[in-house]
Amino acid sequence: MPAVDGLLRGMSNEQHESGGERVAVVTGGGSGIGLATVLRLVKGGYRVIAADKNLAVCEKAMAPTDGRAVASRVDVRSEEDVARVIHEAVTRFGRLDTLVNNAGVGGAFGSVTDVEASDWDFTFEVLVRGVFFGMKHAARVMTSGATIVNVASIAAFNASYGPMAYSAAKAAVKSMTESAAVELAPRMIRVNAVCPGLIRTPLLEAGHGERFDAMGLPPVQPLPRWGRPDDIAAVIEFLAGPSSSFVTGAELRVDGGMVAAGAGTSLTEQLGTDARSRGLVGVNRGSTGEKSVVRNRPPKS
Ligand SMILES: NC(=O)c1ccc[n+]([C@@H]2O[C@H](COP(=O)([O-])OP(=O)(O)OC[C@H]3O[C@@H](n4cnc5c(N)ncnc54)[C@H](O)[C@@H]3O)[C@@H](O)[C@H]2O)c1
Repeated sequence: MPAVDGLLRGMSNEQHESGGERVAVVTGGGSGIGLATVLRLVKGGYRVIAADKNLAVCEKAMAPTDGRAVASRVDVRSEEDVARVIHEAVTRFGRLDTLVNNAGVGGAFGSVTDVEASDWDFTFEVLVRGVFFGMKHAARVMTSGATIVNVASIAAFNASYGPMAYSAAKAAVKSMTESAAVELAPRMIRVNAVCPGLIRTPLLEAGHGERFDAMGLPPVQPLPRWGRPDDIAAVIEFLAGPSSSFVTGAELRVDGGMVAAGAGTSLTEQLGTDARSRGLVGVNRGSTGEKSVVRNRPPKS
C-alpha cells in the first residue's frame, strides 16, 4: 500500500478547474443503479471507470459506451483495489472529478438472534469499509470542484426498509457522508448521499421479479410506479455536477415519497420477501457472482 499511497499523494489534478473532459469512477458500475449512472455520465460527456467485482458482467455492460467507459475489476472491500482504481482514473484520464460509491449487496438477513458474525462483517465490509476506502483515496487526489456521491438507502432512516445489518450499514454511510462533507468543504470538495427507495434492479428482484410484476404497484409508495435505476442515476448526475454547487452533506431521498408516507410495518413483509417471518437466515451476496446463502433458522434450544 505505501507505494500506491505515495504515488496518489504526489499527484496533482491541475486540469480540474480549467475545463476539459470530466472523469468519474463508479463502483458497482456493472449493474442496476451503477450501470444507469455510468451510461448517464457518459452521455453527459464524462470518461468513466466502472469498478465492479463482477468483471465479466461489467465488461459486457460497457459495450454500448464505445470505450468512453471502461470496466475495472475491483472488490471494494480491499483498500489496495480501491486505491488502484482511483490511481487508474488519474493515470488514464489525468484527473478525478467524481467518485460514486455505489457497490452494494443485500448482506446479512434473518432474525437478530440468528445472524452469523461473518455475514454481519461481510455486509459492513462491502457497504461501509468500501465507502470509506473510496472517500479516503479519492479525497487524496481530488481538487476544488470535485464531488463524491455515496449511495445509501431509505433503510438508513428507520427499521421498516431493510434487514438490520443493511440498515445499520446505510445509516453509517449517511453519517460518513456528513463527516466527510464537513471535513472536505474548505477544499471545495462536495460529498452527498442519495437514498433510493424501491428500485427494480437485479439486487432488489433476486428471484422476486414476477411477484413484483404481479403486484402491479409497490406497496406503501405514494407515486404510483416502480422506481427505475435511471431515477437514481439522474439525481447522482445532479449531485456530481455543477448544478448542485451549493449542496454538500445532504441525504437526498429518491423514493417516490415512501419515507414521507411511512411504511408502517416492515416493507419486506409487505413485499413478501421477509426472511424472518419465513424462518430463514443467511447472506445475500447480490450481483457479485458469488453464491448467496439461505439456511433454515436453527431450532430454539
Ligand atoms: N435497488 C434498490 O431498491 C436499492 C434501494 C436502496 C439502495 N440501493 C443501493 O444501491 C446500490 C446499487 O444497488 P443495485 O440495486 O443497483 O444492485 P445491483 O446488484 O444491480 O448492482 C450492484 C453492483 O455492485 C457490485 N458489487 C457488489 N459487491 C461489490 C464489491 N465488493 N466490490 C465491487 N463491486 C461490488 C455488483 O457486482 C453489482 O454490479 C447499492 O449500494 C444498494 O444498497 C438499492
